[in-house]
Amino acid sequence: MRLVILGATGSIGHSAFKVWEEHQDEVAIEGLVAHVNARRLWEMGCQMRAAWIALTDTAQAERLKQEVKGLAGPDILGGQEAVQERLAEADATHVLAAMSGFAGLEPTLTALERGLTVLLANKETLVAAGDVIQRVLDDANSGQIIPVDSEHSAIFQCLALNQPLRRIILTCSGGPFRGWTRESLQSVTVEQALRHPNWQMGPKITVDSATLMNKGLEIIEAHYLFHVDYDAIDVVIHPESIVHSLVEFVDGATLAQCGYPDMRVPIQVALSWPQRWPLEIPAFQWAGRDLHFEEPDLDTFRLLQVAREAGEAGQLYPCVLNAANEVAVEGFLSRQLGFLDIVEVVEETLNAFSPVGRGYDLAEVRAADRWARQYARSTIAQRAR
Ligand SMILES: NC(=O)c1ccc[n+]([C@@H]2O[C@H](COP(=O)([O-])OP(=O)(O)OC[C@H]3O[C@@H](n4cnc5c(N)ncnc54)[C@H](OP(=O)(O)O)[C@@H]3O)[C@@H](O)[C@H]2O)c1
Repeated sequence: MRLVILGATGSIGHSAFKVWEEHQDEVAIEGLVAHVNARRLWEMGCQMRAAWIALTDTAQAERLKQEVKGLAGPDILGGQEAVQERLAEADATHVLAAMSGFAGLEPTLTALERGLTVLLANKETLVAAGDVIQRVLDDANSGQIIPVDSEHSAIFQCLALNQPLRRIILTCSGGPFRGWTRESLQSVTVEQALRHPNWQMGPKITVDSATLMNKGLEIIEAHYLFHVDYDAIDVVIHPESIVHSLVEFVDGATLAQCGYPDMRVPIQVALSWPQRWPLEIPAFQWAGRDLHFEEPDLDTFRLLQVAREAGEAGQLYPCVLNAANEVAVEGFLSRQLGFLDIVEVVEETLNAFSPVGRGYDLAEVRAADRWARQYARSTIAQRAR
């Protein structure tokens, strides 16, 4: 297999690097893509013997070219278009989509259109443009998606025999503020929100995990990945993050996929599927372990319900939800917004949105994303006055 990693310098990229270290005979690296982190990308490109590396920030790419002039290493590309061109013609067979946010959409579409297998971590892509991606997947020549999100990887593994299911149960750690009241969330700091109890992840998904928006995005992701109605997708809080998700079949039998929270596992499952490769990980200790399950608190963590309703509304509502949330999370991380303002900005943007019609194409996705970002930014600016 020849792999391109989009978002190579991030948290998923780091786990993918560790998987690659153990499986260099199976996985050759075609290309690595990041946004601005030039030094790390160059190091990874050299270590992983990539044919090329790309920084979507062209100025950073130019600077790196000057810095490493004369040194042996991968070709250096700059800009989103160069990435698109390379994906359209490269010798890759697999693409790990692990960029954060809406930026992952276009390269993911290009990879699928070329018939490549996309290992999808970047859930925002499916949330923003689920119907567009589905139309590409419906083409007989398109590639396929294998989920990397740990919950969706769990469901994917449980559904391997393609048996009729009653419902999907997504587990959710509850994040750092599980059990907190709305009142106590008012003064939450960025540092507190970035302290996830079980997972080491990039800042955007970590904040989404604290608001439970991440689980809301995952409900929509599961709807598109597994073609399941929203009322057959439930969420249960499971603070230990050992049961990665469950599938209940029509006869009531339930399968779960369990293990230590370690993203190397779902990444490796996606790379090796339908085989399994060995992984250096301790044998799981079941004895003496307490596992807990509880209902999510939808009053305190309203974004979980807002996201579900946006998914049920369909059309471009999930795209608007995603864009407004990306802007609001940036606002929180840059300390322009309080933690509880995130849901307010997302709700205000969704309420102001007028859908265009029943179906939508890529141009309409781009337009809705742009509109929602502008609207959310102006909402944030008004709050600052
Ligand atoms: N981390 C996890 O455990 C986890 C689990 C499940 C799903 N996911 C999903 O995986 C994706 C990545 O998460 P992460 O935690 O790995 O994020 P992260 O640590 O913040 O890394 C993001 C990566 O995307 C790159 N990037 C950011 N903006 C970009 C742009 N405009 N164009 C091209 N590349 C861009 C970054 O490059 P620079 O470093 O150069 O900025 C970096 O390589 C997200 O969609 C997340 O929801 C993550």
